[in-house]
Amino acid sequence: MQIVDLTDDEEHVKRVAELLKDGFSDTGTEAWSTLEECLKNVRESIGETKISRIALGPDKEILGWGAGAPLYRNYTWELEVLVVDRENRLKGIGSGLLGDFESEVKLRGGLNVFLGTDDENFRTSVGGTELYPEPLSHLKFIQNISHHPFEFYQKKGYEVVGVLPDANGIGKPDIFMSKRLS
Ligand SMILES: CC(C)(COP(=O)(O)OP(=O)(O)OC[C@H]1O[C@@H](n2cnc3c(N)ncnc32)[C@H](O)[C@@H]1OP(=O)(O)O)[C@@H](O)C(=O)NCCC(=O)NCCS
Repeated sequence: MQIVDLTDDEEHVKRVAELLKDGFSDTGTEAWSTLEECLKNVRESIGETKISRIALGPDKEILGWGAGAPLYRNYTWELEVLVVDRENRLKGIGSGLLGDFESEVKLRGGLNVFLGTDDENFRTSVGGTELYPEPLSHLKFIQNISHHPFEFYQKKGYEVVGVLPDANGIGKPDIFMSKRLS
């Protein structure tokens, strides 16, 4: 696998947009439901102050995409999106893209990576639940019910650092995670 910058090559942009649309189609999200919206997002990920990287297979086919931007000046970068082609999951591509994103952040002098991982279809113990009062008390014993990616990030050294109850509607929280790069 090779990981390179995503450029404004229209074929690549279109393929990544398709990947994005398909990759999140079963997550219950209202975002990225049309190709137009995905194309806009993918195009906006490209820029001097951003990181937008694609994983290529042996025939240079695009297998995954990871992108983000600085959030707190240059100290903390947000991983805004990470997606791997459905047929190629659980083969280390997500890990490769995440490690690459962290290296790119470090190269730019960043200290932390932050991300929000939504639960919009009750795939964790904090989805579909009343989190008030004391939302943080629910995080300590968070459980993965149906392949929610927070566990993928935990395996890569990220910790759950917060939650925004009802971020995407009642019972649909955003789970915040971060990692200090050392
Ligand atoms: C989440 C995602 C990027 C993971 O990519 P991947 O290439 O399948 O992951 P990897 O093969 O590198 O997996 C690394 C480890 O995480 C585990 N893992 C991967 N996805 C997981 C999930 N959804 N739940 C629990 N564990 C998971 C793997 O089993 C593996 O564990 P191991 O090291 O013990 O063998 C991919 O499943 C995806 O694109 N999902 C849809 C989009 C999405 O939800 N993106 C994240 C939004 S915040």
